[in-house]
Amino acid sequence: MTEPYKHKAVPALDVFKPDLFKDKVVFVTGGGSGICYGVTETLMRFGAKAAIVGRKAERLRAAAQQLERDTKSKAIATPGDVRKIETIQHAVKQTLDAFGKIDFVICGAAGNFMAPIEGLSSNAFRAVVEIDLIGTFNTVRATMEEVKKNHGSYVHISATLHYSGLPWQSAASSAKAGIDAFSAALAVELGPFGVRSNCIAPGLIAGTEGADRLVPQGQEEMAQGFIPMQRIGQKEDIANAAVFLFSEAASWVTGQILVVDGGSVHFRGPFLPYPDAVMDTQSFKSLFPGSKM
Ligand SMILES: NC(=O)c1ccc[n+]([C@@H]2O[C@H](COP(=O)([O-])OP(=O)(O)OC[C@H]3O[C@@H](n4cnc5c(N)ncnc54)[C@H](OP(=O)(O)O)[C@@H]3O)[C@@H](O)[C@H]2O)c1
Repeated sequence: MTEPYKHKAVPALDVFKPDLFKDKVVFVTGGGSGICYGVTETLMRFGAKAAIVGRKAERLRAAAQQLERDTKSKAIATPGDVRKIETIQHAVKQTLDAFGKIDFVICGAAGNFMAPIEGLSSNAFRAVVEIDLIGTFNTVRATMEEVKKNHGSYVHISATLHYSGLPWQSAASSAKAGIDAFSAALAVELGPFGVRSNCIAPGLIAGTEGADRLVPQGQEEMAQGFIPMQRIGQKEDIANAAVFLFSEAASWVTGQILVVDGGSVHFRGPFLPYPDAVMDTQSFKSLFPGSKM
């Protein structure tokens, strides 16, 4: 049988000009780890300066230092909690003090865990919506005057969870659906000011907490096989999409959701055994040893 062909993840620097984002400033919630760290690193390699936001100040500072070492551009840690707008306003002020402006914003901070609806408390559901959806609103509200001044651009990190009724992901699915809707409204309200707003909806991305949580241990091979492009995504894949969306090449692209998932969304089987997953939640607990189910 012919082996499936696998494209490699190609760094955006091999495709776009190296000074693409020289003199640009990007404000990134969730930039201290995971996908958004990877996106920040790539934007900095193209010359952007970055302010990264998260709650864990020490980890954030270490991340900013690492970004500076690896990219030779500037990064600052601006600790804040996206649920509290005053902390994001403070982070914006710190960014303006350091870099004088904000051109691009990535709304990437998120919280998630797997739980059936009947195992979710009202507070747990609210916590996810507060971080993902209200956190996105707070970030936009705190940055939009600056972004308008520079005719800049927003990229919100969404997901594909809510394209179907995925079990055990009701809170994150609801929050991400809200982010997609909010981004479209933002695109329409700020379009006449020269500001764009788009979402990236990543599929499964390797080396992230999200992927560790969603793929049952020992099932990685099987998970890859269900992806039309035959591999789990890399942070670079999402970074490349962000480079395009922030670049002038996308100047007529706004209010869109760019799905970057190797085609998974078009080939969907339930990733949890069904109906066992919803009938007896204990039956396969061993597949997810770390989960709070
Ligand atoms: N991993 C995947 O396969 C996947 C797939 C689809 C979509 N996504 C989306 O991609 C984004 C990044 O996910 P990831 O897997 O890379 O996760 P991650 O490393 O856990 O990133 C989440 C980030 O958000 C920050 N954060 C959480 N709550 C916050 C709050 N209240 N205020 C400020 N910052 C907060 C965290 O920093 P602190 O803890 O320091 O606050 C962390 O840096 C998320 O929007 C996620 O939904 C991921």
